[in-house]
Amino acid sequence: MKGVFPIDKFRNIETPFYYYDTSLLRKTLDKIKQETSLYSNYHVHYAVKANANNRILSIIRETGFGADCVSGGEIKAALEAGFPAHKIVFAGVGKADWEIKLGLESDIYCFNVESVPELDNIDALAASYGKTASIALRINPNIDAHTHHYITTGLSENKFGISLVHLDSVLDHLETLKNVRLIGLHFHIGSQITDMDSFKGLCIRINEIQEHLYQRMIIVDSINVGGGLGVNYEEPDKQSVPDFKSYFEVFHKHLKLRPKQEVHFELGRSVVCQCGSLITKVLYVKEGVNKKFVITDAGMTDLIRPALYQAYHKIENITSDQLPEEYDVVGPICESSDCFGKMVSLNKTQRGDLLAIRSAGAYGEIMASQYNCRKLPKAYYQDKI
Ligand code: LLP
Repeated sequence: MKGVFPIDKFRNIETPFYYYDTSLLRKTLDKIKQETSLYSNYHVHYAVKANANNRILSIIRETGFGADCVSGGEIKAALEAGFPAHKIVFAGVGKADWEIKLGLESDIYCFNVESVPELDNIDALAASYGKTASIALRINPNIDAHTHHYITTGLSENKFGISLVHLDSVLDHLETLKNVRLIGLHFHIGSQITDMDSFKGLCIRINEIQEHLYQRMIIVDSINVGGGLGVNYEEPDKQSVPDFKSYFEVFHKHLKLRPKQEVHFELGRSVVCQCGSLITKVLYVKEGVNKKFVITDAGMTDLIRPALYQAYHKIENITSDQLPEEYDVVGPICESSDCFGKMVSLNKTQRGDLLAIRSAGAYGEIMASQYNCRKLPKAYYQDKI
């Protein structure tokens, strides 16, 4: 394990920091390319929300993928990294006017629309530019993705998308608008999904909806199935590249497409998660009443997933060779939830050791905050350290 990290170089870098294994990122991207090249109508938009680090974005852009953005800031980040506007999709329940204008000015590929008032607003703004905005309706398919409830999005109780019961009235309304053009349907059922049956369920629901649209003589250009493919947080080295083969096969097998229809994917976590680790130094090893605490210089401000979602991240002491002991690994922030793991087995740990918190490439650096007036973590790269 230790061979994977350039520990001598790490010793000269101020901790905590994110370390990205760019060769693993490239390997992951190659695999996605290889699998999608089997299907000429598959298009991948990387979900920028997972990691908007410019260098990571640039490497992803080199593969030719598009970008899935959820804010004006993300559109700017994608454009800056060189993603062509015509490969950018823009989603989100609350798009502000300036963000919609940015999308219109840049001529992005598509707005994924989540409500009637938003549709009206895009129509009005597009009219003011003398343009027609391409839109996809984000439909809430009411499918349980069997993942953590904070990252489930496709149930009718969630705020996302247009409910199926409203679909017909939205389509009726759409016919009255002059500056929007319906080009697609958009779905997203949740994140960190490892059970392929959830995606099969999504395909079946999409087929029903397409059948319904067909009766209204509507055939859209593209079906966007969102993102959601999960990764192996328990054993990141055993499965460093997620199972993209099975993922894309599910859609190939179960999605019934009309001639010339495209399928769009918005993959985030599965692209960048395993290539990133948060490297942190042990400040103190403290004796508790019944346990030992390892206190790190990284905290929930650097990686909030364990505190926010009770998420598991594998933690390794990358500088100790001694026999393992059990510790609670905690950060320095003034919150009890600032804990990276309880009863973690680590090689005997002492002050000054370096720990790697693994699978932190997705929703890690991008969710960092400055709470407690902390510095934001810097990033370093395997091919440029
Ligand atoms: N498309 C839409 C519309 C989304 O809402 C998301 C993620 C994605 C694509 C990308 O999904 P992915 O392939 O990454 O699963 N912060 C949470 C995850 C929030 C996901 C939000 N939406 C976490 O750390 O687990």
